[in-house]
Amino acid sequence: MYVYDDYDQQLVDERVNQFREQTNRYLAGGLKEEEFLPLRLQNGLYVQRHAPMLRIAIPYGMLSSTQLVKLADIADKYDRGYGHFSTRQNIQLNWPTLESVPDILAELASVQMHAIQTSGNCIRNTTTDQFAGVLADEVVDPRPYCELIRQWSTFHPEFAFLPRKFKIAVNSATSTDRAAIQVHDIGVQIVRNAANEVGYRVYVGGGLGRTPMVGQVITEFLPEQHLLTYLEAIVRVYNQHGRRDNKYKARIKILVKALGIEAFRARVDAEWAHLKDGTGTLTQAEIDRVAKHFSAPDYDTTLSANDAAVEELKASSKGFRNWVERNTTAHKVPGYTAVTLSLKKTGIAPGDIYSKQMRAAAKLADEFSFSELRVSHFQNLILADVKIKDLPALWEAAKANGFATPNIGTLTDIICCPGGDFCSLANAKSIPIAEQIQARFEDLDYLYDLGDIELNISGCMNACGHHHIGHIGILGVDKKGEEFYQVSLGGSSNQNAAIGKILGPSFKADEMADVVEKLINVYVEKRTDEELFTDTVARLGITPFKERVYAA
Ligand code: HEM
Ligand code: SF4
Repeated sequence: MYVYDDYDQQLVDERVNQFREQTNRYLAGGLKEEEFLPLRLQNGLYVQRHAPMLRIAIPYGMLSSTQLVKLADIADKYDRGYGHFSTRQNIQLNWPTLESVPDILAELASVQMHAIQTSGNCIRNTTTDQFAGVLADEVVDPRPYCELIRQWSTFHPEFAFLPRKFKIAVNSATSTDRAAIQVHDIGVQIVRNAANEVGYRVYVGGGLGRTPMVGQVITEFLPEQHLLTYLEAIVRVYNQHGRRDNKYKARIKILVKALGIEAFRARVDAEWAHLKDGTGTLTQAEIDRVAKHFSAPDYDTTLSANDAAVEELKASSKGFRNWVERNTTAHKVPGYTAVTLSLKKTGIAPGDIYSKQMRAAAKLADEFSFSELRVSHFQNLILADVKIKDLPALWEAAKANGFATPNIGTLTDIICCPGGDFCSLANAKSIPIAEQIQARFEDLDYLYDLGDIELNISGCMNACGHHHIGHIGILGVDKKGEEFYQVSLGGSSNQNAAIGKILGPSFKADEMADVVEKLINVYVEKRTDEELFTDTVARLGITPFKERVYAA
């Protein structure tokens, strides 16, 4: 994985010192609230319902075991012994004190981590596929490109105060989109052209929030070397023309929609004419330099794809078979597999992880996966390079630490924001709704029969829990001070990304498991053989579902 050089380290260390001084000045009354606000935001610090919230970047989801142990230590020392993995490959601490944040940042810097640009109106953490580099279905490993984007965007002087926040995601998978790129401000799909050269299809103007939109293609094929100059041209056009008068109309999606994609593209091209082939152009040497950090680990090439002991255990243990079926993903190297450690156990907020579990996961990474982990936007952890023959031992250890819920990709693998339990912007709680639904659908055989279904929950229209792109989306709304929930169907974040359609009037909190069950019943009754939930919704539209949930 990427290892800081002296420049990176100096940059991060200096930032810690700078923020320490800013915090001291604020605490001593030398900086006003509104002066401190943009400074703290650019260092990941929100002020929330109960306490400040610190958002720590996990660049493109890569974590070393050393970093995870440090996060555990920080959670114990400065917080309440847990953290929350977010949908943008960050981790959030919900209870630090303002005074302690500079110390936390210093501790993070000691393991090459930071919270820079994890909030505020700047370019945020670039996200990608949690299986980058290990599955067979990718054009090339996307991580070097994410790292190049990170180096370009971190402290980019021109883009520190954009009209609004700016999110970039990169996907290189050919069969699907594992990074939800079409609902990002910029989505980069790595592709090859007819001459087999690497390049990018670039989407612009996607996003969730109160005005959800699917991004549009701004260029079908951008040659590899132009990545940064072209991104710079897009962000520059946005910086100049995005609205600053109304924060609800300030995202790039609004600008793209207002101008139309052709006019927006023309402006980007005009801007790009000044930048193209300039100093920001990537050289092969630079791409290679960064790519070296992501070279394949030292795989054992003598392993066979099948292991007799594993096959035997699969035959004799249903629990193990289920876990292998749902929580492992085929690896490109024979004898290896990628294992997802589920953070979706019923009764625990999706994405939450205790310090004890962080240490346990780090130990598993040391023992079984080259000391590295990934964080997914589905709020789970991944050990990407596990030997198939180690699966029985890993399964036992995962069970012992609460990571083995065999529900990956199913209805109970819910994406959920912190909602009203933590977030001051919430209209309603989201965590208890997730719990209610997980408890209702505890029967694993039934869950497996239902197949892949994505259920996403947000506590308000800001959509941190991606409800618009859930196959089933749940949104907390406020009705005269009471918490209600609106349900949508048909959302998707794959190549044919779509925003879900709202079923109708919202429901009370205690009705939510019933509502989901009714939706599922319609699917079970109407599906054809092998039809997934999303296919049935696409074929029938929302009407039969609507009729069922609103039936007297
Ligand atoms: C608890 C403190 C949080 C606050 C105050 C907060 C605030 C916000 C706000 C104001 C927006 C809407 C901005 C816009 O669309 O322009 C937003 C969107 C978003 N947030 Fe959060 N958020 C919080 C936590 C989270 C968490 C925990 C996650 C992940 C689980 C998350 C991920 C996202 C994502 C993915 C969006 C999507 C909208 C988009 O960019 O189009 N946020 N957040
Ligand atoms: S969706 Fe709303 S309630 Fe949930 S974390 Fe985002 S801002 Fe808070």
